[in-house]
Amino acid sequence: MPERRRILVTSGLPYANGPIHMGHLVEAVQTDIWCRMQRMRGHECYYICAEDAHGTPIMLRAEREGITPEDLIARLAAEHLEDYRAFRIHFDNFYTTHSSENRELVEGIYDRLRERGSIDRRTVRQFYDPEREMFLPDRFVKGTCPRCGAKDQNGDSCDECGSTYQPSDLIDPRSIVTGALPVERESEHLFLRLSDYRDLLKEWVGDGRLQSEVVNKLREWFDDGLRDWDISRDAPYFGFEIPDAPNKYFYVWVDAPIGYMASFRQFCDREGIAFDDFWGPGSDTELYHFIGKDILYFHCLFWPAMLHGGGYRTPSSVFVHGFLTVDGAKMSKSRGTFVMARTYLQHLDPEAFRYYIAAKFSDGLADIDINLEDFVLRVNSDLVGKVVNIASRCAGFLHRQAGGRLAAALDAPELAAEAASRAEEIAALYEGRDYNRALRRVIALADRANRYIDDRKPWELARDSERAAEVQAVCTTGIELFRQLIVYLKPVVPTIAARAENFLGIDPLVWDDVHTPLVDHKIRPFKPLITRVQPEQVAAMIAASGEGDVG
Ligand code: MSP
Ligand code: ZN
Repeated sequence: MPERRRILVTSGLPYANGPIHMGHLVEAVQTDIWCRMQRMRGHECYYICAEDAHGTPIMLRAEREGITPEDLIARLAAEHLEDYRAFRIHFDNFYTTHSSENRELVEGIYDRLRERGSIDRRTVRQFYDPEREMFLPDRFVKGTCPRCGAKDQNGDSCDECGSTYQPSDLIDPRSIVTGALPVERESEHLFLRLSDYRDLLKEWVGDGRLQSEVVNKLREWFDDGLRDWDISRDAPYFGFEIPDAPNKYFYVWVDAPIGYMASFRQFCDREGIAFDDFWGPGSDTELYHFIGKDILYFHCLFWPAMLHGGGYRTPSSVFVHGFLTVDGAKMSKSRGTFVMARTYLQHLDPEAFRYYIAAKFSDGLADIDINLEDFVLRVNSDLVGKVVNIASRCAGFLHRQAGGRLAAALDAPELAAEAASRAEEIAALYEGRDYNRALRRVIALADRANRYIDDRKPWELARDSERAAEVQAVCTTGIELFRQLIVYLKPVVPTIAARAENFLGIDPLVWDDVHTPLVDHKIRPFKPLITRVQPEQVAAMIAASGEGDVG
């Protein structure tokens, strides 16, 4: 690996038809921690995201609100960005898929796919709403399940019995747009011949870049045969019109991942970075996509095929995570566990969520559960009780007895050396997205530091005026061990880290700083870096989430 890696990172683009909720934040926090860690290690790492602006739901919502889709996207994008910012998600660029850059990239990739003969035209039969005069996506038809008779089921699958079917199989189908009886109609659609990319995909999937659970899922799909992908939609549709197919639009899932490139393109134009270094064929930079398991098919089959066929590089990897659950169950509006970012922010500290969710992450597809009781205990015990407590225990003595000045040497340099020796191991755990184990290492170091202070008892030493130098050296050691913990925790809790840097009177910490003890230096008076989480705050958040308008 080169000394200074060049890395481009994305997370799934949020749809512009609903608010940011805690599920989105699970992903954004996972990605943000990873990128912050890379930057602290001195690498060039860009985190790019955008608003996913196109598609039928967004078109219909804008209609309902009596505004243009452009206005709807602009409003939602601003809200989304504000929520992400409040959770300290650091995007290097946040753009929209409805942009001239994206249109140009989409058309370019489509042209090349067509030149290679990868696009077929075929006639399909689809439900059509005669009142609204539009073709209906599967999810816009409801009816009675043909298998078990459950009423009000989606056009593609039944929530009651789990069977999947065609919308035309539904008994008593209805358009959810107008309630009209849908009719079947023919239309010509464009298809990407995925099977042309079978060899490329087999190699890309098989060469060790993906998580083993992801590879297993992809193998199943390979065995079922790679079906051609319908990349077009009929008007009315909010998206990009297909140049050689009037009244047909690119399906939103064509231009959404290309939106990663378009957002990066805008960033490059602003910052003077060479776009082709990151997207050109044979590029030696790294490209990673963080996504949830629901959109794995798009990112691990269609996307590498589109990129390759379009003349670009393929991703270095796709990092897939599971879904957020609360107290062991899917987020639920009726239970008040479908929590919006906004609602959380009205009641709780975003860094508490960042820490708790990080402590839950490992490199797998299993769902990630928030246990509300455990959330309170964990944050209070680890962050408040173990980490911040070290600083508050030591700072008072230093200010009372040494004018806030750290001693010239540590009382226990071997402890600081031991903590510093973990730097590579902890970085490797972050790199592998095993944040759970990274944080367990860090908290074990915090336990060790607290034991040291308990053993040396500065509060007893302080009673003896002749031992002032010893008190100063012991507390200097405590502060140094705290500073090292902050280095390791900084990707997870950047606001706490910034407050700690301010308290210590030091420049922003980078990873290598664990090796250089802070001595003979004046610190500021200690102010609490985080407040304890109260169970009442959690209860109030759940109560607020159970009421009112939830997108
Ligand atoms: N717009 C598409 C992504 C296009 S990427 C080219 C989309 N949007 S989404 O808003 O539904 O989801 C955005 C990301 O958040 C996805 O990676 C999705 O997996 C993730 N999550 C959405 N809900 C989630 C949970 N409840 N839990 C964890 N991640 C979740 O899909
Ligand atoms: Zn059924």
